[in-house]
Amino acid sequence: MNTILVTGATGTLGRPLMRELSARHLDARGLSRRAPGHAHADLLTGEGLAAALDGVGLVIHAATDGRRDVRAAENLLGAMRPGQHILYVSIVGVDRVPLPYYRQKYEIETMVRSRGGSILRATQFHDLVFTMARALTAAPVGLYPSCSVQPVEVGEVATRLAEVAATLAADPSPVVEDFGGPEVRHGRDVIRAYTKAAGRRRVLLPLRVPGRIFRAYRDGGHLAPDRALGTRTWEDYLAGRFASGS
Ligand SMILES: NC(=O)c1ccc[n+]([C@@H]2O[C@H](COP(=O)([O-])OP(=O)(O)OC[C@H]3O[C@@H](n4cnc5c(N)ncnc54)[C@H](OP(=O)(O)O)[C@@H]3O)[C@@H](O)[C@H]2O)c1
Repeated sequence: MNTILVTGATGTLGRPLMRELSARHLDARGLSRRAPGHAHADLLTGEGLAAALDGVGLVIHAATDGRRDVRAAENLLGAMRPGQHILYVSIVGVDRVPLPYYRQKYEIETMVRSRGGSILRATQFHDLVFTMARALTAAPVGLYPSCSVQPVEVGEVATRLAEVAATLAADPSPVVEDFGGPEVRHGRDVIRAYTKAAGRRRVLLPLRVPGRIFRAYRDGGHLAPDRALGTRTWEDYLAGRFASGS
């Protein structure tokens, strides 16, 4: 029962997480629907799950398809055996920002808590903020969200998860932690830093969306300023990203 099963092992977080676990000589098995080198299972149908869970003591649940995550979590939790612990990767503010995706994640957190599992919530990964920045500045007049963000380096989230996993392997008692990026930055600064690094000259206008979801973002529901544990800044990330030519 020493094996750690990582769902979403092929994802943005799962890839560095698998590397972190292996660097710590922890016995990690990745789960994917079809990627070579991983245990094959589909969380939505449950197919392959029983075999993937054989000999597993801890499941780090980092899979998502954005829409049907509650059903996937029900199947995963239903297939887990007594004594198997779960560490669920969630997002800061899932209980405060009424985005449908966040609501799903909050429901899963409740399921995980009710079986004594652990949760680690992170703020937005640099990669996601980068994708948004690129989209918002694609046109000659760019947009910036009129709210703050606290982007975090996914590799640092992976490192923290691996540390928590090593602790849980010795003592599987519930843990709930937030992991935030090093700086809370206004959307305007984040987009300006992006256009500068990308060499895109843009007039930037504020993007404000009416409604409760955007208000919750403006109120900082997705931020964890008191848990600013990451060290790699947005500018560090941009420098690395543009140096690698991607
Ligand atoms: N992105 C962010 O800013 C952010 C911030 C904080 C927390 N998080 C959370 O971190 C976790 C990982 O996010 P990510 O960005 O790394 O996700 P991602 O890159 O979209 O990867 C999702 C993974 O889920 C797997 N998956 C999807 N449907 C599946 C199914 N039916 N059965 C089995 N596997 C399935 C996919 O694996 P295969 O295609 O190989 O099957 C894929 O590797 C998520 O829970 C997310 O909510 C994300």
